[in-house]
Amino acid sequence: MPSSPSSSPTSKSEAPPPAAAGTADLVIRVRGLVTRFGRQTVHDGVDLDVRRGEVMGIVGGSGTGKSVLLKEIIGLMRATAGRVEVLGVDMLAADSATRRAVQGRWGVLFQDGALFSSMTVAENVMVALKEHTRLDPCLIQELARIKISMVGLPPDSCAKYPSQLSGGMRKRAGLARALALDPEILFLDEPTAGLDPIGAAAFDELIGTLQRSLGLTVVMVTHDLDSLYAICDRIAVLVDRKIKVGTIDMLLADPHPWIHDYFHGPRGRAAAVKR
Ligand SMILES: Nc1ncnc2c1ncn2[C@@H]1O[C@H](COP(=O)(O)OP(=O)(O)O)[C@@H](O)[C@H]1O
Ligand SMILES: [Mg+2]
Repeated sequence: MPSSPSSSPTSKSEAPPPAAAGTADLVIRVRGLVTRFGRQTVHDGVDLDVRRGEVMGIVGGSGTGKSVLLKEIIGLMRATAGRVEVLGVDMLAADSATRRAVQGRWGVLFQDGALFSSMTVAENVMVALKEHTRLDPCLIQELARIKISMVGLPPDSCAKYPSQLSGGMRKRAGLARALALDPEILFLDEPTAGLDPIGAAAFDELIGTLQRSLGLTVVMVTHDLDSLYAICDRIAVLVDRKIKVGTIDMLLADPHPWIHDYFHGPRGRAAAVKR
């Protein structure tokens, strides 16, 4: 795949993580999170710190509660117990106005993050702008066009409906919508699922480029080892209903059986060779 020096991805795993931060630099702080559905315990004392400007990957087996954790962080689901702070706001205790203000400071691209099928790409991106701002309609259209070009979609995709786009283009359109309000934090749930390896690598590169140029903090659930190697500073692994956080190098040395198998299995070795 052609890539110019300016756009070539640098392996995050070679770079040191952002300097160890004081609590002031924490954009997300999860403490003692417990999640139960009936008799099933999904999380049993999960702690997670995400520092400003880092890319945090979240991995774990199927059904370990990755998507639920994201939803609890952004307030779409309520944990059974524990504390979630985002941008300094206690999400469980805050009043609705405070929560709404914080919600405008992040963007989300969900696993099943369907675009509205009856709206064009531009209209999809404009939804949040119309809801959260009082900008002039012409300006809103212009902003939507800018976001759509930022994610690498051609100008003619603005007027297209989701059904007229490829899977990779739909993901990009969803990303444009997530970026509509110039978020500080971007939450992604398996953004490369369903894409072919080249499409997935291009999407990773896009996330990395946007993260660096916009100074975003990114929290990304993924099972894609290539993504972890390409763009994540640290990785949170959901095992035994808790979270273990580390750099790839730390996790490569971790003796936990699931973590060992994940990073040293055939796909892990392939990703490490590419690195
Ligand atoms: N709303 C819900 N009600 C009951 N159980 C749920 C609900 N949402 C998720 N679960 C269960 O919680 C577990 C974790 O789900 P999820 O976070 O979606 O897993 P994954 O790590 O694959 O994203 C699963 O066993 C799932 O069945
Ligand atoms: Mg999930």
